[in-house]
Amino acid sequence: MAILFDSTSRLFTLKTAHSMYQMKADRYGVLLHTWFGMKGSVFDYSYRIAYADRGFSGNPYDAGEDRTYSLDALPQEFPVYGSGDYRSTALKIRYPDGTTACDLRYLKHEIREGKYSLPGLPALYDTLPDGAPAEKAGQVKRRTPADTLVITLEDTRHMFCVHLYYGVMEDLDIITRAVCVENHSDADIYIENIQSVCVDYLHGEYDLHTFYGRHVKERNYQRTPVVHGIQSVGSTRGTSSHQYNPFLILSDRDTTEDAGSCYGFSFLYSGDFTGSAELDQYDQTRLLLGIHPDNFCYCVKPDECFYAPEAAMAYSGHGLGNLSRIFHRAYRSHLCRGKWTAKRRPVLLNDWEGVYFDFDGDKLIQMARDASELGVELFVMDDGWFGRRDLDVSGLGDWIVNEKKLGCTLSELSDQIHGLGLQFGIWFEPEGINEDSDLYRAHPDWAFRIPGKQPTRSRLQLLLDFSREDVRDYIFSHMCQVLDSARIEYLKWDLNRSLADLYSAVLPADRQGEIMHRYVLGLYDMLEKLIQRYPDMLIEGCSGGGGRFDAGMLYYTPQIWCSDDTDAIERLSIQYGTSFGYPVSTMGSHVSHCPNEQTRRIAPLNTRATVAMSGTFGYELDVNKMSGEEKEIVKAQIQEFKKYYDLIQYGDYYRLTNPDIVEAYHGWEFAAPDGSEALLCIVALQIHPNGPGRWMRLKGLKQESIYMVNGLEYPGDALMNGGLLLPDATEEYQSFRIHITEKSV
Ligand code: GLA
Repeated sequence: MAILFDSTSRLFTLKTAHSMYQMKADRYGVLLHTWFGMKGSVFDYSYRIAYADRGFSGNPYDAGEDRTYSLDALPQEFPVYGSGDYRSTALKIRYPDGTTACDLRYLKHEIREGKYSLPGLPALYDTLPDGAPAEKAGQVKRRTPADTLVITLEDTRHMFCVHLYYGVMEDLDIITRAVCVENHSDADIYIENIQSVCVDYLHGEYDLHTFYGRHVKERNYQRTPVVHGIQSVGSTRGTSSHQYNPFLILSDRDTTEDAGSCYGFSFLYSGDFTGSAELDQYDQTRLLLGIHPDNFCYCVKPDECFYAPEAAMAYSGHGLGNLSRIFHRAYRSHLCRGKWTAKRRPVLLNDWEGVYFDFDGDKLIQMARDASELGVELFVMDDGWFGRRDLDVSGLGDWIVNEKKLGCTLSELSDQIHGLGLQFGIWFEPEGINEDSDLYRAHPDWAFRIPGKQPTRSRLQLLLDFSREDVRDYIFSHMCQVLDSARIEYLKWDLNRSLADLYSAVLPADRQGEIMHRYVLGLYDMLEKLIQRYPDMLIEGCSGGGGRFDAGMLYYTPQIWCSDDTDAIERLSIQYGTSFGYPVSTMGSHVSHCPNEQTRRIAPLNTRATVAMSGTFGYELDVNKMSGEEKEIVKAQIQEFKKYYDLIQYGDYYRLTNPDIVEAYHGWEFAAPDGSEALLCIVALQIHPNGPGRWMRLKGLKQESIYMVNGLEYPGDALMNGGLLLPDATEEYQSFRIHITEKSV
């Protein structure tokens, strides 16, 4: 059992393969946080707490005359507003009388085998689907050992309880958390703030690693020292957003890719979030992650429960690279679900950058024919196939096939594409609506609008109120009509704006603060229905590229379009930043035309493939515009990707350099978990005539083994310590994919 409880000291110790987490219900029943970090002896780590008389840091009444006991200074597991702790807290409740202070004490706990799940919310699970390649590669067992701890804290006025959920996934080195508030009173209570994670660090100087961006430039990596005050990132856009990602790392100042302590926090949620680090007056650091409180106020009725979403935490004592690989393994096989976690995904061609809205059925079939000759396996018809949708200004919401535009029914189109040996997929934006649509004309109140106020438009569209079941049911039934009318193996679920003008016609005034969260629950509800009804369909998430790239979505869509920026060189930074918290198997990545649509940059076709292969791999262009020579190259690329599929998708991913730090060559690597082979990927960011030699140190190989690289033999330790001498780049942005195999004995 990975969860230990000492009833004398009321100490909870949670152990994974390499980490340990500890809490203690102290003499007043306050749940202290005593340790998160390297696995060690099961010892009461509360010995590290310094109790002292602190001016202006108050004392709970039951501490009597003990002025050294203050919640303003103690490390706590779930600090609450109004308890005398003036730092950022994890819970704020408004009572019927308008007061907001609360005080929570330990009541009881329960330890059980297996990992908990949450109603209507994503959560990591402990059973791997049958035959998953990750299992074959020996990376994880089919059923990974997991246990659940539920600690119940009670409000001292007996009005409500808080259940703190912990999922300890031992082999995966992951601890998950979630929170449930249960109203025991006979009146409504209002949650004004609830955070899923709080970790208090008693001492140490930390760096906070966050991922910021914008549309077409998501998840840029930023590392800053935690200084006095609060540093936070978050989203109030209704989606996890392009601007900040709900994945954060806290590390020691000297932590590197390969050495040092770091802590990863990932929120399994696709809506508003906040993540913050606060360095307090006593040089203690508090990390919080949860729903953003700005647009949130949730009413919990008597005897009802509210569940705050899950967050996954991991500790690495061996640097950032190892931390990322912990998340990669867990998300690949214990977050993503369905047949596509276990099966090789098809190489696709998406028509968007090739034709945009300018197509008819014949053009698509020609594109599909060209693509099939190259070895593409799935043809995706993106935006423009429904309603009156020849531009992005109209038609959204009218999920009726435009047979006039296609010149045939969807079924006929799909049959023709299947006749070419390809699978067929289509694009939807179920949450969106144009004012110029039949749906809007029929149901204007289904879109978010505040009565009497003109709405904020974005991409000339509004959003449907997905917190409403009737609205979701309508859209779902129309989607099903389309999906049932033809053979469709893939669906791209897009969303092309942020939420605004929140007002739900079916909620009373005191519950309007629930819309943002109910919207996300509505989205999850619909995605769940979709995957239950179409279990074999591959669903790719998207929000104007990577505007909703988060662990919540990955529970429903095993891949997400990483960015609308398809420029291979820009993608280096985007995919680099994304790799800190997410595996490459989740990153939608395509080869597109050059000059690139977003940047006008020209990068070699080989380089575009090197970058796209470090993701789900596909093409997004008009094959007809390619030369015969380019088509031959593409054929070879697809074959190569298939050959290395398991290594890329299930291997260990190593960041070798940071593309944003000016170095001539940028590199990354996939190594088989057993060290038997590796694929080194290099992109030359600078070329210099008469330049110096360039080496790249490999990782994840076996020290004593001999490896073959381009017909030459090298010991593993030489490749890892001395590095591999790289070929000279003779062309701007040239790339190299170098396969390294262990010599058979
Ligand atoms: C978004 C997506 C694109 C494409 C367009 C279609 O921008 O990110 O990939 O699907 O919408 O309108």
